[in-house]
Amino acid sequence: MYRFKPELRIPGPVPVPDAVSLRMAQPMINHRGKVFKERFPHVLSRLQPLFGTKNPIYMITGSGTSGMEAAVSNLVSPQTPVLCLVGGFFGKRWADLCQAYQGNVHVLEFSWDGGIDPNRVSDYLAQHPEIEVIFVVHNESSTAVLNDIEAISKARGNHDALLVVDAVSSLGGAPVEMDAWNLDVVISASQKCLMTPPGTAFISVSSRAREYMEKCTSSRYYFDIRKYEQFVEKGETPFTPNINNVFALEEALNMIEAEGLDNVFARHRLMRDMMRAGAQAVGLELLVADKDASPTVTGVKYPNADNFRTRIREQYGVEFAGGQGPHAGRIFRVGHMGYATPLDVLVALAVLEIDAGKFGEATRAAEQVMNQ
Ligand SMILES: Cc1ncc(COP(=O)(O)O)c(C=O)c1O
Repeated sequence: MYRFKPELRIPGPVPVPDAVSLRMAQPMINHRGKVFKERFPHVLSRLQPLFGTKNPIYMITGSGTSGMEAAVSNLVSPQTPVLCLVGGFFGKRWADLCQAYQGNVHVLEFSWDGGIDPNRVSDYLAQHPEIEVIFVVHNESSTAVLNDIEAISKARGNHDALLVVDAVSSLGGAPVEMDAWNLDVVISASQKCLMTPPGTAFISVSSRAREYMEKCTSSRYYFDIRKYEQFVEKGETPFTPNINNVFALEEALNMIEAEGLDNVFARHRLMRDMMRAGAQAVGLELLVADKDASPTVTGVKYPNADNFRTRIREQYGVEFAGGQGPHAGRIFRVGHMGYATPLDVLVALAVLEIDAGKFGEATRAAEQVMNQ
């Protein structure tokens, strides 16, 4: 129903603004030509404030997982002792990737309904001085948790381990301060808060991580960061890039810069608070506590969640995401990231309250948050 105007409220990919789509319709250009060489480095440098870094940023044509694999394949050699902090589906992906590269994988498990406890991280590291690299997810999209990466980074104390962060569903929606928080590798992707289509990953590497990469013995080719480094100096990528996504990103960055990064973050926090207040107002329980709540996605407990999702998709054209792992069928997730406004949250809540026969209750609660 209403497939001509789907209401995509999942945690990525997100709706793409018309201005961004139009920019993608530009004529194709030569990725080794003058125009690309002039524009590409500028686009990458405009991402630096979003990463909170002066470190170089590389673009990989691939989904977010390609950025994750680039990090692992350049850092994890067979038997490298690594620590994966797992509190959800994407934390587990770090562990799976490290296994695939035959690391000596230590996994610290956290419950899938809350944040990573930095104290447990520091205790573990104190007992395991051999750990060389830590992998963590900033915004765990599967549980709708925003982890405190600054605290996790500080939990290392004097431990030497590098810290690698998946910021796929936070970068551009919540502050990421790579330099101030002392992070070594940060990865992200195009289809979330960056408001562009899927197909592009970004990776930034600290000088300490770059040095460490030299001793990595894992086989790698497409994801070899040294290739990206060599080519970026010429304003190019080693392989044919997703050129249209570069055009798209230029326009998306125009929008982000015009709004101002702090305002972008404030909009995401407001949407979080509205969504949470609205869901609770119709008697639904949220998956995570306020202190851990993500500004880009909200998880709501719901019996037979998948039936509910099918119902609202068929009736209203509204698409919420399902639960993952232990939450499959038990929660739905509402994405409010990137090209999303408080009005979009009101629409999502309107569907929720209509379906529940509680007209006006969710939207009223959200509107109160908006006008506080
Ligand atoms: C936190 C997080 N990490 C990694 C990924 C993987 O990205 P992709 O599906 O683009 O490979 C996702 C995608 O939803 C994500 O939300």
